[in-house]
Amino acid sequence: MAPNPGYDYVVLGSGIAGLTFALNVAEQGSVAVITKKNRAESNTNYAQGGIACVTSDEDSFDLHVRDTLEAGAGLCHEDVVRGIVEEGPARIKELIELGMSFTERETGHGQELDLGREGGHSKRRILHARDVTGREIEKALLAALAAHPNVAMFENHAAIDLITRRKMGFATDNRCVGVYVLDCASGRVDAVAAQHVLLATGGCGKVYLYTTNPDIATGDGVAMAYRAGVPVANMEFIQFHPTCLFHPKAKSFLISEAVRGEGGILRNAEGKAFMHGVHPLESLAPRDIVARAIDAELKKSGAKCVYLDITHQSREFLQERFPAIYAKCLECGIDMAIEPIPVVPAAHYQCGGVMTTPEGRTELPGLWAVGEVGCTGLHGANRLASNSLLEALVVAHRAAEAVKREKPALRQKSLPPWESGSAQDPDELVVIYHNWREIRQLMWDYVGIVRTTKRLRRAASRLHSLSEEVQEYYWNYKMTCDLVELRNLVLIASLIVDSALSRHESRGLHFLLDHPETDGNETAVDTVLRPG
Ligand code: FAD
Ligand code: SIN
Repeated sequence: MAPNPGYDYVVLGSGIAGLTFALNVAEQGSVAVITKKNRAESNTNYAQGGIACVTSDEDSFDLHVRDTLEAGAGLCHEDVVRGIVEEGPARIKELIELGMSFTERETGHGQELDLGREGGHSKRRILHARDVTGREIEKALLAALAAHPNVAMFENHAAIDLITRRKMGFATDNRCVGVYVLDCASGRVDAVAAQHVLLATGGCGKVYLYTTNPDIATGDGVAMAYRAGVPVANMEFIQFHPTCLFHPKAKSFLISEAVRGEGGILRNAEGKAFMHGVHPLESLAPRDIVARAIDAELKKSGAKCVYLDITHQSREFLQERFPAIYAKCLECGIDMAIEPIPVVPAAHYQCGGVMTTPEGRTELPGLWAVGEVGCTGLHGANRLASNSLLEALVVAHRAAEAVKREKPALRQKSLPPWESGSAQDPDELVVIYHNWREIRQLMWDYVGIVRTTKRLRRAASRLHSLSEEVQEYYWNYKMTCDLVELRNLVLIASLIVDSALSRHESRGLHFLLDHPETDGNETAVDTVLRPG
């Protein structure tokens, strides 16, 4: 089934951000949810640790705010942090009412929410569904949306580009009026009009060779927004998760930070707990610090991985608390109850993104960006663990309320049809895969956990030629989903490198060997790239 020519709301992406928004506007008008693979496939679906939210008497909003600001290394917008943290409990309550079931524990006086702990948190405050929190969230949201008569879902459809009045040749009242959508199976491209378009396309982990992210994470939303003239911010701050399972059978499998929250200790091949003395929180220090310590340990020893040791916990506890991790490890021949788990850091989360207000509004009227694709100011230079699901939930709700308050915009009656080459190249796949691999390898080697200006410049120059090659290819050949993603990846890689080159200090996740110092926080500014 092809999308209709127009809807009130077009939502790009079916993770927590897109689905929450869709649910909240569905009563108001027609909604199309366009999603690249099957409806559950998203970063959300793989979230393990949970959602950070103040729900316990032993915790407070002030402490959650303080932990977020500390992790964010001087770049968080404090008002945004406070607003999102304080709105968390109301949104969690709604999620539970919708059918989401978080793990509970028996206290002796009845059941209460079981709270996990992760890096950088001073309190136990992570609500979780054992170690499959994201899967349960997707299930609950998709079930709630399934029966809604106003919502149409288009799986295996990829948004290619936004349609703006400026691109259509109008000199005034620039606005996002729709989107070009590719049916990945048939190759057909439709122009779909909308009063409001929501980018909820997630992050860009696939721009790196090693990542915890599934294949959908190719930065499409940031790339589309930037091409439409919308500024992006803080793209240099790519978070590397310290503990991705190191095993040939385990593509992108995460070992949740919650394992360290339950006492897991990082050790090197000699068994030494190398985080001791690096940070007072040791293995539970903020992610930037742990990932850099692992990187240093690997470079020093030449080893291929480090180890996460949770063998002090009982088998029964591990099976109950971490069923998916336990099963995956066993599948790979690792019994985590009696032996340490081999782990390496991998690209995990994009802290920057399309610049938005705290309600997800971009500079372009009619265009909204929520979730990992957006940059509200919550995460600063390093996201605090489990704050991203919280942000997506809160900001999607706010964006929905904001669009409902807006005066209805006229839907553009006719949109220009998509135009691109129609030739099919028998070598197409090999060229695409080669360029894709080259981008991911060079980002891993030159723009990773520890950077130098020289390596960043080298990456910039190589990306420049790759970009020219991809552009030429793009306009000459028939559109495919792989080609859409390659074009976006090369732009995203350039945005990360250009942002990194414009920050001449080390801060949070951006560590420059030739500028290891951090400038004073009073002068800390976001890196904003405005399309020329
Ligand atoms: P996503 O959930 O990634 O959804 C993006 C959607 O957009 C997908 O449906 C995708 O198919 C679609 N899409 C992308 N491009 C296009 C296109 N061109 N056209 C149409 N559709 C498109 N965060 C936490 O807070 N707590 C955790 O415990 C946690 N654990 C994590 C574990 C893993 C393994 C990973 C990878 C991330 C984890 N995160 C966690 C981060 C968190 O899951 C994500 O930041 C969050 O789920 C992003 O939600 P989203 O809705 O913005 O995007
Ligand atoms: C994890 O479970 O370690 C991931 C948490 C997050 O990325 O917020």
